[in-house]
Amino acid sequence: MQQTRTGAASQTKFLLEESQLPRRWYNIRPDMPTAPQPVLHPGTGQPVGPDDLAPLFPMALIGQEVSEDAEIAIPEEVLEIYSLWRPTPLYRARRLEEAIGTRSSIFYKYEGVSPPGSHKPNTAVAQAFYNKQEGRTRLSTETGAGQWGSALSFACKLIGLECKVYMVRVSYEQKPARRSMIKAWGADVVPSPSEETQSGRAILAEHPDSPGSLGIAISEAVEDAAGRADTAYSLGSVLNHVLLHQTVIGQEALVQMELAGAFPDVVIGCVGGGSNFAGLAFPFLREKIAGREIDVLACEPTACPTLTRGLFAYDFGDTSKLAPLVPMHTLGHDFVPAPIHAGGLRYHGVAPLISQLVRDELIRAEAYLQNDVFASAVLFAGSEGILPAPEAAHAIHGTLRVAKAADEAGEERTILFNLSGHGHFDMAAYDNYFAGKLEDVALDEDEFSRALRAIEGLPTPV
Ligand SMILES: Cc1ncc(COP(=O)(O)O)c(C=O)c1O
Repeated sequence: MQQTRTGAASQTKFLLEESQLPRRWYNIRPDMPTAPQPVLHPGTGQPVGPDDLAPLFPMALIGQEVSEDAEIAIPEEVLEIYSLWRPTPLYRARRLEEAIGTRSSIFYKYEGVSPPGSHKPNTAVAQAFYNKQEGRTRLSTETGAGQWGSALSFACKLIGLECKVYMVRVSYEQKPARRSMIKAWGADVVPSPSEETQSGRAILAEHPDSPGSLGIAISEAVEDAAGRADTAYSLGSVLNHVLLHQTVIGQEALVQMELAGAFPDVVIGCVGGGSNFAGLAFPFLREKIAGREIDVLACEPTACPTLTRGLFAYDFGDTSKLAPLVPMHTLGHDFVPAPIHAGGLRYHGVAPLISQLVRDELIRAEAYLQNDVFASAVLFAGSEGILPAPEAAHAIHGTLRVAKAADEAGEERTILFNLSGHGHFDMAAYDNYFAGKLEDVALDEDEFSRALRAIEGLPTPV
């Protein structure tokens, strides 16, 4: 079908055929101006090798973690499952533009059309596939908001693996529907900290009312996998291979923006561990590194301001120091963020690849209060119709700020953001917002300094 520029100018949705699904993932590592620093063994402090990681991950994923290949082929079986919901639509947010009276153009890539409702299955399916291929029969994982846990249980069901999910307690209680969804896809789900692992029991002994955190849930899932030969550990964000799998998002968006006859000046995403942000932004950063001018903005909560206030340091990926030491922006591995509703953004660290790109000033970051974020979510829902996940609403808020600043400066920008998931299982959060019960939390100085003490004495990156 021919698409004309005139047609594109009034069009709302830019759709691709199934045959246009990207057949390769894009690996940003060889294009990075500064190579990422090595990951260190949590016990010895020495660079980890494949043998150190083998108890937790299949060799194919360990290979992808350190690969310098610019592109990696997506297995046919993964593509077949992707085709259940991919390619995802790219929208021009005309009604939102009108609602705020901006002269800028706003586009968004919508990842909420996947069966579990977010971008997470882009990597869940790939991880389940490689684990099955190498003979694992069971995966263990953590989940914050429940999006990742439901994505992995969905993937395990389709690929044929058992799945155990340690769900951050506050989300387990706030989001019972996500819990049921995880069960519907056949996985076993428990609140974390739990009595089922040593890490969980140790934390409960000290803090019986702990709301949990991603750092704690990761410790439990890693311990589970390390103790069983049939089980591998699966992480929903942060690691290089996870970000790699998400790059189908940005690759599709590049083609769809071309269909729209536009190219973004600004690319925006929310950042928890960084996977949806990287998924959209990395293929555009490839263009930026090659010389194109693009402002790349990462949005996070003030309650967990990893990129805007955290230190770039070696830190453990989890609370109980079982996971490797990675060079990243961190608030300290025992930091437990306030129980804000964007559960998926409550992580003390961030992907090392994103941290390095922030240090190299290719990405900038901002942090927002949750009431402002929900106000933007409701404005978006009232114009575009889609009720965003609280995590994704951070990207919407960032977009509205950029559009406002451009209008005030008399400029016109083309903005593209990632709508990483829908909020249909976050209605209690919306109820709290409407009832005026949402607390605005900014990490206070005392807790900030206390939490950072946890990284004293750890190796220092160059
Ligand atoms: C809808 C949604 N967006 C974003 C995130 C944050 O994760 P990441 O930074 O890895 O994309 C989550 C995590 O649970 C999520 O569920």
